[in-house]
Amino acid sequence: MQNDIQEILISEEEIQQRVKELGAKLSDAYEGRNPLVICVLKGAFIFMADLVKVITVPVEMDFMAVSSYGATTKSSGVVKIIKDLDVPVDGRHVLIVEDIIDSGLTLSYLIELLRNRNAASVSVVTLFDKPAGRTVSLEADYTGFVIPDEFIVGYGLDYAEKYRNLPYIGVLKPEVYSK
Ligand code: PRP
Ligand code: MN
Ligand code: MG
Repeated sequence: MQNDIQEILISEEEIQQRVKELGAKLSDAYEGRNPLVICVLKGAFIFMADLVKVITVPVEMDFMAVSSYGATTKSSGVVKIIKDLDVPVDGRHVLIVEDIIDSGLTLSYLIELLRNRNAASVSVVTLFDKPAGRTVSLEADYTGFVIPDEFIVGYGLDYAEKYRNLPYIGVLKPEVYSK
């Protein structure tokens, strides 16, 4: 376990097991629909990579990078597109892949954007959901784990761009982010 990590909240094995279950559900749901699976960079990249390997129906993939801006926090609700999709979504069944829903602001913006671009359907799969952080009402269609109100890192999730490569979900020692 890395030195900055206080405890492992969800192990690598638990994550891999849950990803397989989500893949099976999505394979059923998207049978015959040729979904466009959209990865929200950067956080979702590891989940995306593992998830698409256990989806057994044909899919297409694209990648989008977004960031909140305004003040120093993301609570502005204004989301800036850093990298847009390469392909049009009109008429497509879109599945957004996120690592975590916290306030819900990033996803509520993305969902509206893709609906306005006339996607045939817009659904969300998130590996982690932190309901305690919500400022807008939003629920994913598929959720891996509901997590407590703690600062977690790993499996794509960062603190100041670090820890994304940890294969498990860890709770960061408070002294790391209170420095
Ligand atoms: C994180 C996370 C989600 C979003 C969730 O991304 O990956 O995309 O925040 O928060 P919200 O529900 O409050 O909008 P972040 O903006 O940190 O960018 P990153 O994915 O590049 O780390
Ligand atoms: Mn993100
Ligand atoms: Mg981040």
